[in-house]
Amino acid sequence: MSPDTQSTTIPRHVRHGSNAGQPVSRRDGVLKVTGAATYAADNHPEGMLHAVIVPSTIARGRVRSLDVSAAKAHPGIVEVITPENRIPLHFDPNDKMPPFGFRVEVLQDDSVRYVNQPIAVVVAETLEAATEGARLLAPRYEEELPRTDLDNGERYDAEAVGVGAPAVTTAGDIDAGFAAATRVTEAEYYTPPQYHNAMEPHAVVAEWNGDHLTLDMPNQALRMSAASYAQYFGIPVENVLIRSPFLGGGFGSKAILNGPQILGILAARQVGRPVKLVLTRAQMYGPVGHRGRTWQKLRLGTDAEGKLTALHHTSIGATSSFDDFVEPAANTSLMLYASPAIRADHKGLRLDIGTPGPMRAPGEASGSAALEVAIDEAAQACGMDPLAFRLANYAETEPTSGRPYSSKALRECYEQGAASFGWSNRPLEPGTMRDENGFLVGWGMGTAVFPCPQFPAEARATLRADGTALVETGGVDMGQGAWTALAQLAAEALGLDLDQVEFHSGRSDLPDGGVAGGSGHTASAGQALSNAGSDVIAQLSEIAVNDPDSPLFGAGNIGVVAGEGRLYRRDDETRSETYAEILARAGRAELVGSGKSGRDPASADRFAMNSHGAVFAEVKVDPALMQVKVTRLVGAFAAGRVINPKLVRSQYYGGMIWGISFALQEEALADRRTGRIMNADLAEYHVPVNADVPEMEAILVPEVDPHVSPLGIKGVGEIGVTGTVGAIANAVWHATGIRVRKYPIRLEDLLARR
Ligand code: MOS
Repeated sequence: MSPDTQSTTIPRHVRHGSNAGQPVSRRDGVLKVTGAATYAADNHPEGMLHAVIVPSTIARGRVRSLDVSAAKAHPGIVEVITPENRIPLHFDPNDKMPPFGFRVEVLQDDSVRYVNQPIAVVVAETLEAATEGARLLAPRYEEELPRTDLDNGERYDAEAVGVGAPAVTTAGDIDAGFAAATRVTEAEYYTPPQYHNAMEPHAVVAEWNGDHLTLDMPNQALRMSAASYAQYFGIPVENVLIRSPFLGGGFGSKAILNGPQILGILAARQVGRPVKLVLTRAQMYGPVGHRGRTWQKLRLGTDAEGKLTALHHTSIGATSSFDDFVEPAANTSLMLYASPAIRADHKGLRLDIGTPGPMRAPGEASGSAALEVAIDEAAQACGMDPLAFRLANYAETEPTSGRPYSSKALRECYEQGAASFGWSNRPLEPGTMRDENGFLVGWGMGTAVFPCPQFPAEARATLRADGTALVETGGVDMGQGAWTALAQLAAEALGLDLDQVEFHSGRSDLPDGGVAGGSGHTASAGQALSNAGSDVIAQLSEIAVNDPDSPLFGAGNIGVVAGEGRLYRRDDETRSETYAEILARAGRAELVGSGKSGRDPASADRFAMNSHGAVFAEVKVDPALMQVKVTRLVGAFAAGRVINPKLVRSQYYGGMIWGISFALQEEALADRRTGRIMNADLAEYHVPVNADVPEMEAILVPEVDPHVSPLGIKGVGEIGVTGTVGAIANAVWHATGIRVRKYPIRLEDLLARR
C-alpha cells in the first residue's frame, strides 16, 4: 500500500503506523499455555455452594413428579429448586427482552418443551452431593410424542429471521427472470443441527451482596448481559458486575442469555450463598442454543452466456415450539451474485427442540453451503468453469439495491486464490483426476462473504506520568486475539510501543466494549480505543503547543505528530519532547481520553459493506471406501485493514477448519421417538482434529476502505467458514461425479450412489 492510501485509515496524528499491522503474538498466549489464565469455573468464593441442573429427558410434556424429599434427605444437599418453590423473577422469562432477548426456561412451570430443559436445580455443599441429589429426584413425566422433523413439525410464516432480518426479500421480477432463462437449475439442500461445542462449558459463579451481584461467567456481550440480568432480578444495572477475562470458545452461544446461567444466579439469591453452576457437555445440547437445521431450495435461471436471469433461494429453518430464531440462510443470496431478479424467503418449522441461535456465521454458513453448490451446479449445466461462471455473474454493485460497495476486492481474491491453488489446471469434467495412490482427486471452490458491522462501543485511555498508558474497554477476548489487536490499535493512536500500553477488558464495569460477535469486535471496540488514544494525544498536544517552555510551543496550525512516546512538530521533527516531560511541566499526573466506535451515517446509507473471499479446496476420495479427505485449502480474503496479520490468518484458518467440520463432520442426531440427541459428546459429535486438517493457506488480499469506518477495518472472524463448505462439497463432486446435497457429506452417501 502506498503511504497515501494508508493515510485514510491511520489516525492523522500518528507519525508512522508502527504498531498496528504487525504480526505480534498473542498477549494472552503465555497465560493460556501455562494454565495461568483463569476461566469462570476456576473461581471459588468463600462459602460457595455447587448447583447442578436437572435436565429433562423427554422433549414434550409435563413433569408429573419429582422426589424432592429423597433428594433433600441426601447429605450435603442445601436446597432443591423447582417451579413450586423458586423465588420470583422481576422479568417474565416467557417474554423477550429487547434488543436480542430470547425466551428462557427457568422453572416457570412444569411444562417440558425440549430435551435437556432444566426442570430443577439442586444446590449442595459439594458437586458430588448436588449430582447425587439430582439423580434422586427421579422425575416422572406425562410424555407426548415429540415433533422432531420436517414431516411432523409445524410450519409457519416467519416474521423475521436471525436477529431481526427480513424473512422475505424480492428484488426485480422473479417470474420474468425465469421466463427469460434459457436454462433453469434447481436443487434442494439440507443442513443438520450443529452445536457450538466450545471447549469451555457454560458456567457461572454468582455471588450476591445484598442487591449487588458479581458474576464470573464466559460472556460475549458483557454490558448487554449485565443490563438483562439486572432486569431479571429487579436491580439497577450498576449493581451487576460481570467478569469474563478469558473465554474458552463462544461461537455465538455465549452472546445470548440462557436459562441455566439465570438459574445459577437465582440459586445463589435463593440460598443466600455464592453458587457455582457448570453445565456438563451433554447438558449443552438444548438450553444454550445451536445452529438450527435448514431445508433449502435454490432455483437459478441462466441465459445462453451463463449470466443469471433469476435467483430464488428459499429456506425452511427449524426453531423451537416457543421462540422464533430461524436461520437466515436464504439471505446469503442477496449478497453475492448479480441477477436482475432475486428472491430470498424463509419459513419456520416448530419442533420440540431448544431454541436455535447464532452460531459461527449464522445465515451465511448454512446459506452459502447451499448457494455455492447451486452456483457450481449452474456452472456445470452451462458447461462453464465455476470461476468463470462466478466472474460472469460478479456483482459490481449490491445485487438487490444497486448501491456501490464501500470496497470489494473479491475479484482480487478470486485471482490470487486461483493462482496459488493452480485452479487453471482444473479439468472441467468430474472424476478425471487420480493421485499416485489411485485416489480420486477433486477441486472445488466457493465464494466467501460476511457483513462488517460496526457496533456501539466505548473505550478509555489514560496516559500516565511516566509516559505509559492504560487503555480499557469492556469487551471480551474469546480466543480471536482481541487483547492483542485492540492493544495494537490503542498503541498506534497513542504513539506508543505496544509494551508501553496496558490493556484491560473483560469486565462489565469498564466502558462498554460492545459485543464480541458478528465478526465486529476489532472494528468496533478497536475504533473506540483508537479514538480514545487520539483524544489523549489531542489533549496532550493542546498542553504542549500552549506552553512557552515546550519546543512545540506555537505549533498550533501546523500541528504535531505522535510517535515513540514523543510529540514532534509536523514541519520540523528535530523539535520534540516526551509525553512524560509535557505532563511533568504541566503538573499533570495523568490525562484521560475517551472514544466511541462509529461509522459515518451517510456512508452507512450510501454503501453496501461486506468482507469477501474465495476458497479453493482439494479433496481425495478413496475409490473403494469413498472416504473423503480434504488435502488442500486455499482461501484468499479481503476484509479491509489488517491489524495483526498473524492473528487474522489464524482467524481464517479457524473459519476454514469449521468449514471442513460443516462439510464433512458435524451433525447432532436426534432419536425420533424421544427427541434425545444420541451423540451429545465430543467422542461422537465430530469436529476436526489435527489429522483432519490439511495444508492450508490464507491469503490476505489488501483492501483499503475509507467508508466502513475511520480505521477501515471490516471483520475476519466468521467469513472463513462461508465459501469453504461449498468449496469442499464441490470438490467432492469434482472427484466423484456425485452430488451430495445433504450435510455432512458421508461416505455412505457416496457409496450408495457410486
Ligand atoms: Mo457470533 S455467531 O456473532 O458469536
